Amino acid sequence: MELYIDTANLDEIKQAHDLGVLDGVTTNPSLIAAEGVDYGKRLKEICDVVSGPVSAEVIAIDYDGMMKEGHERAQIAENIVVKLPTTMAGLKACNALSNEGIRTNMTLCFQPLQALMVAKAGAFLVSPFIGRLDDIGHDGMDIIHQIRQVYDTYGFQTKLLAASIRHTKHMVDCALAGADVATVPFNVIQKMLAHPLTSSGLEKFVSDYKKAFG
Ligand code: E4P
Repeated sequence: MELYIDTANLDEIKQAHDLGVLDGVTTNPSLIAAEGVDYGKRLKEICDVVSGPVSAEVIAIDYDGMMKEGHERAQIAENIVVKLPTTMAGLKACNALSNEGIRTNMTLCFQPLQALMVAKAGAFLVSPFIGRLDDIGHDGMDIIHQIRQVYDTYGFQTKLLAASIRHTKHMVDCALAGADVATVPFNVIQKMLAHPLTSSGLEKFVSDYKKAFG
């Protein structure tokens, strides 16, 4: 499973990149707003650090606006993936940009038929949001299993990117369900390496050694 970081914070992106296991980055307008920085400038800074796919979302919600912003975002760097909402206009823009060779990430996907449609339109990535489905009382993991089954049945090449991941249990379940990619906040990446027995075991190894040899 590929690992992306879901943030627009440059320091977190650098720290995750330094671990040597980061495959890409996803951003969205809310994440950029939280940083209070210019979207285009920050995307360029991110692409200078990470060579894998960097998702850059459009703000427009109409077809012409999405195409204009999509072209602008795609100019920033070769590894930019244009992120579009899964709507009628977004689907049309996905198809047009994909036909031009610009990779797309279809976001705000909440049911398997949306994933079927964006795969038919040529999307590079589809982003089902697990946490936000959990928030309204659904089991967000259901959609990951359903999309995996649909994509495998018909041989769609669109990558299944599990998004809106809130904790490590989501990560375990995504890996078991066969998600191609998971995009994760930095705090979850840190927790993926943590276990109390690792900490206590390490402490004991070091103290036993020091007791014996000083
Ligand atoms: C994905 O691309 C989105 O940026 C993200 O995963 C949304 O997560 P949230 O529901 O925690 O805001």
